[in-house]
Amino acid sequence: MSTTTAEVINGKDLSHDMKMEMKTEVTELKQTGITPHLTVLLVGDDPASKSYVSGKKKACDETGISSDVTELDPSISEEELLQRIEDLNNDPKVHGILVQLPLPDHIDEQKVIETIDPSKDVDGFHPVNIGRMMIGEDTFLPCTPYGIITMLKSKNINIEGKHAVIVGRSNIVGKPVGQLLLNENATVTYCHSRTKNLQEFTRSADILIAAVGKPHVITGEDVKDGAIVVDVGVNRIEDGSLTGDVDFESAKQKASYITPVPRGVGPMTITMLLKNTIKAAKELAKS
Ligand code: GUN
Repeated sequence: MSTTTAEVINGKDLSHDMKMEMKTEVTELKQTGITPHLTVLLVGDDPASKSYVSGKKKACDETGISSDVTELDPSISEEELLQRIEDLNNDPKVHGILVQLPLPDHIDEQKVIETIDPSKDVDGFHPVNIGRMMIGEDTFLPCTPYGIITMLKSKNINIEGKHAVIVGRSNIVGKPVGQLLLNENATVTYCHSRTKNLQEFTRSADILIAAVGKPHVITGEDVKDGAIVVDVGVNRIEDGSLTGDVDFESAKQKASYITPVPRGVGPMTITMLLKNTIKAAKELAKS
């Protein structure tokens, strides 16, 4: 048992610093005639999606990135949504396109993702960008995994040679964060709902990423002394508050670094979206 508690990696503070830097960069870009612009399509009125989208818009405003949000009726046909995306692909003023997920059941999510021009795919979800990420090419990285790596690097945490254990294998977080850690020369293990003896794996992790979507599935018992614990969970519990996949108090007694919920990975996801939007604007201006 370690005698000290973990250092908390505050994603809100890091996001704030990064946004201030980006604000300066956006001001400079505007002086060269480029105003980065993000268009968000929000289908339906899911309260969680609405709240995420308003957070994204606010962050754009804070950094001087121009943005617009189009709210679409949940009954919109797949064909019409795909046509709207094509129109945005062809609009030179739009640098980044984001379709907030999840979508209503009658719309094929993958088809929507694959309709977005990869050069405007600031979510980093298009298979072309996922492929580029896999082979280590410069591309749009998916925002949550990109935010996690940025948090680790902000503390000069050495990833090379570490055993990274990912709990959760979603296309948005689990799979790509494992790939990014592999690109940084970690040894990566993926765990998921069918993994047997989960604790054996989590206890051997130097870097433990919890991306399950269930409150407090990881506790101090599951954490090796001195491990780095990253909590990706955003779970709304009965009292209305947000909590992570990790039991913060017990895990903090074991870890060397830990990310909290809230003020951890969540704010970083939005910040990396801004970074991708600026990148898209710069690259489209070059082409
Ligand atoms: N829904 C939940 N997270 C995300 C995200 O990062 N991007 C999009 N487009 N939808 C989401």
